[in-house]
Amino acid sequence: MTKRKAVTKAVFPAAGLGTRFLPATKAMPKEMLPVVDRPAIQYVVEEAVSSGLTDLLMITGRNKRALEDHFDREPGLERALQLKGDKDRLAEVEYASQLGPIHYVRQGEAKGLGHAVLCAKQHVGNEPFAVLLGDDLIDEAETLLTTMMEVQQETGGSVIALIEVEPAEISAYGCADVTAIEGEDFVRVNSLVEKPAADVAPSNLAVIGRYVLHPSVFGVLENTAPGRGGEIQLTDALQTLAAGEGEGSGVYGVVFKGRRYDTGDKLSYLKAVITLASERVEFGEDLKTWLKTFVG
Ligand code: UTP
Repeated sequence: MTKRKAVTKAVFPAAGLGTRFLPATKAMPKEMLPVVDRPAIQYVVEEAVSSGLTDLLMITGRNKRALEDHFDREPGLERALQLKGDKDRLAEVEYASQLGPIHYVRQGEAKGLGHAVLCAKQHVGNEPFAVLLGDDLIDEAETLLTTMMEVQQETGGSVIALIEVEPAEISAYGCADVTAIEGEDFVRVNSLVEKPAADVAPSNLAVIGRYVLHPSVFGVLENTAPGRGGEIQLTDALQTLAAGEGEGSGVYGVVFKGRRYDTGDKLSYLKAVITLASERVEFGEDLKTWLKTFVG
């Protein structure tokens, strides 16, 4: 096997309008919505860092300050916590600013996820890179991203993450038509379609917000016309790569069986908060007791 460039860069698109969560997202990116006591995006950045990615790039839009401030130092607050002797909170506050350094590129207008990824072109250059959607939470005990990076290194193509959904739910996702590969625990992606109606969907395999992409995706995105919703869709570019031949083409899928939440969707967000809160040692048991009486 020829030696491939290792994946070291993570791109976090966080420039969407977050319309499903209005009015909470009017003045704040949805990626900053708190899941228990940390903004959703912090879990995602932590996942990238613990997967060994060292070069972090966030794609921001309007209201980007909250994101930048969260991952930056806040000396006034740190001093105040020090004076109060509040070591635990001080450690939490410092931790968020030590995950980086994080680089930022601005997506001037929310023209779609594909366009947001294209904004990373100059920073990423000619090497494979990971994309982690800031509103998609994956159970931290899972090793999905690491597996995806291994598949990228093995195949030299691009890798997407898939989950099985109820057929009626597929119209909310990108959907993949796949073929099993003998002897491998990943699949070949034959084609992709964004948000298909249930009766024409090629499968019940939905694309979720983790990707490890070959840099050839940038050239494809530059030539991808706006698709569904007038947005430049990453799914459309991946469809081109799946159908193509030669260097950098080929798309593979890793089917994820663990827990995952879309924090940009209200019900899924609430489930994420309740699940993660119920696992916290400080108040998890109390919360579960209260939930039982509340629903009982
Ligand atoms: P979504 O489609 O979930 O985000 O994009 P959205 O458009 O903000 O959500 P709604 O439907 O209006 O509620 C998936 C990811 O891609 C990013 C989002 O921030 C989210 O992390 N994104 C989307 C961008 O960075 N730029 C875009 O133009 C669109």
